[in-house]
Amino acid sequence: MPGRWQVFVVLLSIAWQLNLISEFLTNEDVTGRLEKGHVSALPSYDVVIGVLSARGNHEQREALRETWAGNILKHPFLQNRVIIKFIVGDQPCPIPPQDRLDRYSCEPDALVDPVLDQDIIAYRVPNGAVGFHTYQGPLGMDFRVNFPVVITQLGVFDSNSDGLQSGLTVHLYDKISQEEILGASFTPEDPGELIGGSRFKPVDQFVLPKGFEGSIVAENFTSSDPSSNDPMMHGGLDNGGGLISFHRVSRFGVEQGVFPEHEERVYEENNQYGAGTFLYRAHVTDGEFSKQKLEERRKDVEERKDMWHAVLLREEKELQRELRMYDDILMVNVIDVYRNLPKKLLKFYSWTVTNTRFNFTLKTDDGLLC
Ligand SMILES: *[C@@H]1O[C@H](CO)[C@@H](O)[C@H](O)[C@H]1NC(C)=O
Ligand SMILES: *[C@@H]1O[C@H](CO)[C@@H](O)[C@H](O)[C@H]1NC(C)=O
Repeated sequence: MPGRWQVFVVLLSIAWQLNLISEFLTNEDVTGRLEKGHVSALPSYDVVIGVLSARGNHEQREALRETWAGNILKHPFLQNRVIIKFIVGDQPCPIPPQDRLDRYSCEPDALVDPVLDQDIIAYRVPNGAVGFHTYQGPLGMDFRVNFPVVITQLGVFDSNSDGLQSGLTVHLYDKISQEEILGASFTPEDPGELIGGSRFKPVDQFVLPKGFEGSIVAENFTSSDPSSNDPMMHGGLDNGGGLISFHRVSRFGVEQGVFPEHEERVYEENNQYGAGTFLYRAHVTDGEFSKQKLEERRKDVEERKDMWHAVLLREEKELQRELRMYDDILMVNVIDVYRNLPKKLLKFYSWTVTNTRFNFTLKTDDGLLC
């Protein structure tokens, strides 16, 4: 591996510099406080290095033990001043990677019995429903896409199903980037088509990919066309057999035309507005959902479950072996998936603070070999 010595030299020089810097920056207060009580009994290091790792990354950990990490720990000057911990989650994700909602989390694919070849109204309002809410700012409801869907129409609540007296606007936002994906304006002259208690207008058909997180937002509700915040009036949510999931989060904002940032999650079923809605359908690109295919799919899922179980057993055995051989793994209480990296890091810091005295911490990951 070319370059490993350079890495080592760089780390060595960083360590030297840290040492020099820290000699200048001794803080009497902190030192004084640390000297009291049990804290002074903790082992002291110049640098605590946390290496973000995953349960299955035995090879990466081995490689680091053979290169810079190992060199530091064998080095006469550094070995007592630096401690290195691989940060690993103590629970594996039991769901095989292919059957997760996305590969970064440990949530099951929510697709149950997908509705195909049919337009579905996401938030349904019965005909004649009346609203009382005159908040003019944006009102939104969050959802997530589990299987690619096409948005075909956007809709807005029409109180009393009697046409609009003033203009209402609907935006579909990407919740992560907060950018508008689609929009539609409804006016008294051009109010769109009434379906149930909402008015709809076709939009440029837009495919939302699996994993997309969005919010459907409507605004400019006034006393002439109020919104509703009474869930009893709503016909309900239609997830198309798992094509999308509803986040049970509603939101409001202050400024029209801007993604509403204030989240409301008071009661599970109470966070639904009669405001924006949309029509969508599954975006099926091939015969992926024929009856036979679905049957095969179910069988594959079972097989993958068994195989994954075997993988996890191997992983666990290997981890136990590593834990017996080395003292460099910090098991933290999280499910070991990418989305939990911030949690892993936080637990590493709190371990560091309660178990060591240190001048610096340094975070890296086990892919850093050069
Ligand atoms: C931090 O740096 C100071 C100054 O170099 C040193 O005296 C002290 O021992 C260091 N503390 C730890 C915990 O390494
Ligand atoms: C919002 O409603 C007001 C009436 O309250 C109306 O004058 C205005 O045109 C509406 N804005 C939009 C963008 O439709």
